[in-house]
Amino acid sequence: MQPIILCLASYFKGGLFLEECKQQGSRTILVTTQKTEHEDWPRHAIDEFFMLPFPNLARQPDITYSIAYLMRERAIDRIVALDDYDVETAADLREHFRLPGMGASQARFFRDKLAMRTRAAQMSVPVPAFTSVFHYPTLSDYLARVPGPWVLKPRAEASAMGIKKIHHPDELWQTLGELGDRQSYFLLEKFLPGDVFHVDSVVWQGEVRFAAAHRYGLPPMTVYHGGGVFASSTVEHDGEVERDLLAINRQVIEAMGLERGVTHAEFIRSEADGRYYFLEIAARVGGAGIDRLVEHATNVNPWREWARTVVADVRGEEYTLPALRHDYAGLVVSLARQEWPDTSTYNDPELVWRLQKRHHVGFVLASHDYERVQTLVSDYAARVAHDFSATAPPLERPPEE
Ligand SMILES: Nc1ncnc2c1ncn2[C@@H]1O[C@H](COP(=O)(O)OP(=O)(O)O)[C@@H](O)[C@H]1O
Ligand SMILES: [Mg+2]
Repeated sequence: MQPIILCLASYFKGGLFLEECKQQGSRTILVTTQKTEHEDWPRHAIDEFFMLPFPNLARQPDITYSIAYLMRERAIDRIVALDDYDVETAADLREHFRLPGMGASQARFFRDKLAMRTRAAQMSVPVPAFTSVFHYPTLSDYLARVPGPWVLKPRAEASAMGIKKIHHPDELWQTLGELGDRQSYFLLEKFLPGDVFHVDSVVWQGEVRFAAAHRYGLPPMTVYHGGGVFASSTVEHDGEVERDLLAINRQVIEAMGLERGVTHAEFIRSEADGRYYFLEIAARVGGAGIDRLVEHATNVNPWREWARTVVADVRGEEYTLPALRHDYAGLVVSLARQEWPDTSTYNDPELVWRLQKRHHVGFVLASHDYERVQTLVSDYAARVAHDFSATAPPLERPPEE
């Protein structure tokens, strides 16, 4: 049988997912918006391409009507959200059309930072001390109990957008006053200085079949607020850091009850106590070139493996991972002042991937040698900062968009 996979994409991404679905023998339908019309979609891998006439794929009932219309003639097997913004929309559509996969309340665990925090804490996963912004006596009690500084963050945004560091309770009450009716869409938590890590996984039948752990060069908040170049590199294999990260990652995925798919999770190692704390988890592939980083370190491209799990699930077949590689890779990405930056002087033999995108530079470097990757990443980050970096206001979207 030929699986029919419908993909929602508010932004241009997931080309490799579509290619792999096609390669596995599926029929692919892409539903996107007019603003992605001129992007470099892999048209050969897309059987039907629909650009909806409204700009926001989350708009109801428009999106439900549109998909229902497609359903009249097409026996769609699965709906997949390629962008984080589509995760809830896809979940609502699955509920409406009674399709398998993540439903609306589970999707909250991967989109709503308060939902994921609460669930993780219930399941004994360490999280920064946090509170909702609903009941003022509870909030006052939290401020008296948990020493600052704190971060006030939107429950459902990405790329450190709208995150504010708060040093004094007065500052919090004033900010909440400014937010007015929007304040319940935020949560408050303790700011924990420390290194930030990401673990990218493939999940099949409730089990983590694959996970790779990487350390961000600088905490993403520092980068997104204009303080440096985005970088990440594989943590040392078989060491304590990798072991602890893989353990907490598994705990989080089990707590959220994910059955199948991919995740991108983030953790902080607190400088104060050396322990790992769960920061956030998404049911998607990491952005900004992280899929290429993971691929060159491990031989697993998360987009492709995600597609393979979806197709195997429709067919009722077993999913098997490709043969793994246990190498090291590093990623360096930045906005560039130049429209098409000349990166020809960046040519070390370890350079395995270059980002081709207007006003961006990006590289993946790979080696069997952990130290070599560390050296290359810090050199490249410094050179990129000097040669290309643009000082941009805090981003409205992650760098790859
Ligand atoms: N409790 C915290 N303590 C210290 N830094 C934090 C904390 N929460 C967020 N950050 C910083 O802000 C960044 C973005 O926060 P995160 O919760 O990952 O949201 P998102 O990536 O969706 O914007 C993190 O990568 C980290 O650098
Ligand atoms: Mg994050």
